[in-house]
Amino acid sequence: MPNSPVKVAKTPVWAREAHTKNARLIHWVEEVAKLTKPDSIHWCDGSQEEYDTLCNLLVDGGTFTRLNAEKRPNSFLARSNPSDVARVEDRTFICSKTREDAGPTNNWANPDEMRATLHGLFDGCMKGRTMYVIPFSMGPLGSDIAQIGVELSDSAYVAVHMRIMTRMGQKVLDVLGDHDFVPAIHSVGAPLAAGQADVAWPCNDNKYIVHFPDTREIWSFGSGYGGNALLGKKCFALRIASVMARDEGWLAEHMLILGVKNPAGEKQYVAAAFPSACGKTNFAMLIPPESYKGWEITTIGDDIAWIKPDANGKLRAINPENGLFGVAPGTNEKSNPNALKTLKANCIFTNVALTDDGDVWWEGMTDEVPSHLIDWTGQDWTPGCGRAAAHPNSRFTAPASQVPSIDPDWENPAGVPIAAFIVGGRVSKSFPLVFQAYNWTHGVYLAATMGSEATAAAVGQAAMRRDPFAMLPFCGYNMADYWSHWLKIGRNLSHAPGIFRVNWFRKDANGKFIWPGFGENMRALEWIIGRVSGHADAVESPYGFMPRYEDLNWTGLEFPKEKYDAMAKVDRAAGLSETVEQATHFAQFGSRLPRELELHRQMLVLRLERSPEVWEVK
Ligand code: OXD
Ligand code: MN
Repeated sequence: MPNSPVKVAKTPVWAREAHTKNARLIHWVEEVAKLTKPDSIHWCDGSQEEYDTLCNLLVDGGTFTRLNAEKRPNSFLARSNPSDVARVEDRTFICSKTREDAGPTNNWANPDEMRATLHGLFDGCMKGRTMYVIPFSMGPLGSDIAQIGVELSDSAYVAVHMRIMTRMGQKVLDVLGDHDFVPAIHSVGAPLAAGQADVAWPCNDNKYIVHFPDTREIWSFGSGYGGNALLGKKCFALRIASVMARDEGWLAEHMLILGVKNPAGEKQYVAAAFPSACGKTNFAMLIPPESYKGWEITTIGDDIAWIKPDANGKLRAINPENGLFGVAPGTNEKSNPNALKTLKANCIFTNVALTDDGDVWWEGMTDEVPSHLIDWTGQDWTPGCGRAAAHPNSRFTAPASQVPSIDPDWENPAGVPIAAFIVGGRVSKSFPLVFQAYNWTHGVYLAATMGSEATAAAVGQAAMRRDPFAMLPFCGYNMADYWSHWLKIGRNLSHAPGIFRVNWFRKDANGKFIWPGFGENMRALEWIIGRVSGHADAVESPYGFMPRYEDLNWTGLEFPKEKYDAMAKVDRAAGLSETVEQATHFAQFGSRLPRELELHRQMLVLRLERSPEVWEVK
């Protein structure tokens, strides 16, 4: 069972001293240690030896199970406390000076009051534990788009994850020198009294994931799980970085980045924002259909993009991460063969099921369901027992360098040039497969109003859960100011990328997906690349420039024209009711809403009013 008491060596004999002269860092580590009172401090060097030692410690403590060395070499399974399985958005706070600076879509708390609360919580919270000092770089070391942070954590699970997910250790301290860094403090919030045995997954029911955008600090208490505890990812690379990006003139985005090479060898890069659980990792590793001979898709990143205008007014992007922290269920040979290959070795799995031969399994991994498993809660599991074997949010953690489709330039410190942005959510009705914004401002409007349909569990809410730019839980400041920032960036570009909206999820009258998705999404991608390269055709629809059937490449896919035309239809009444919902969405931002976006909403109303009841693509 995950939380039975186990004995763990508390003070690793190999704990070592700082190898830095950075006075602010040394002072801060001392101050935090005084407050949190760990038994020992370990400065992570990021070596393989250190990683192996920590993994062994986690095995001895019952947090990790070593997987079958032949089937899944150097890989581990962790089972969390059943109460600590996901990001906790309602416990995530943006503590800017004023509530308005955080905006209506964030939980705001008064920074002084929050500091007092945190001080109380962190006082003595690391007793009986080791505090790991984890220097990390988001982005290739030395890139002028990259940023350095240091996480102090009392979790070895976090330390080993940070080695996969970021560039971590002594090499980061060497690059940091005397410069500034983003301080990030993490505690599982479970101090140990003298002689008290630890549990396999320590955590606390009282959770706080706190950001101070004005001082660029992160404090996280009570959770050991991914996004709450690996502070380089959502907390730094999105919430704090979005604030840095606003102040410094760049973009920190919840976007994948992929490369598309055509048979002539011409390569373009696109960045795409889809809300969580809309297949970003699958799209980032897409394998083109067989008929696409000579085309190649390469992966730069699957979750986060940092994008900066270069000296020539072009946008260049890096993936600030070094690994993947992907949702396991549904990953299979059809949805993402590249991900399965990535997971062959050197991975950590959290909350998936364990097979009888010491390997991992999750729902949707294979057609054939194993006849017996140990489920994510550590109990025996058989098909039909009524429980999921893997938690729906179970995860794999894997080095990005193991992705078979990784792009040769994925660590290029200068980043890659972005030719197009793609945005989209999960909409079963009214939104076509793909269309292009008329211009940058219109694209920002499309992204600002995007969202996914509410699930059945959320009946009674608005039909769409708006998730602007897929940044709803990740924007570190007022969302309306963030839209203004996007508009400003666009005004200063010499070559603004095209902006496109896609929807893989439209359903027919029987509730079945019309579009096959996965590799076939290549067809929409080819058209997008064609548009930004100036050789693909489109017609003007009420929503934007839309491909006709003949503008898309159908070789190798049976997809009749009537089916495509049904997907491309624009229903006037549905479109108008969408604009009414958008007005409510915009109203929450009051006078901070950029006027351009409201004007684009009104222009859509006009275009719909002038179009037939059902607009058809011709
Ligand atoms: C993620 C998310 O884990 O977006 O990447 O929730
Ligand atoms: Mn994400």
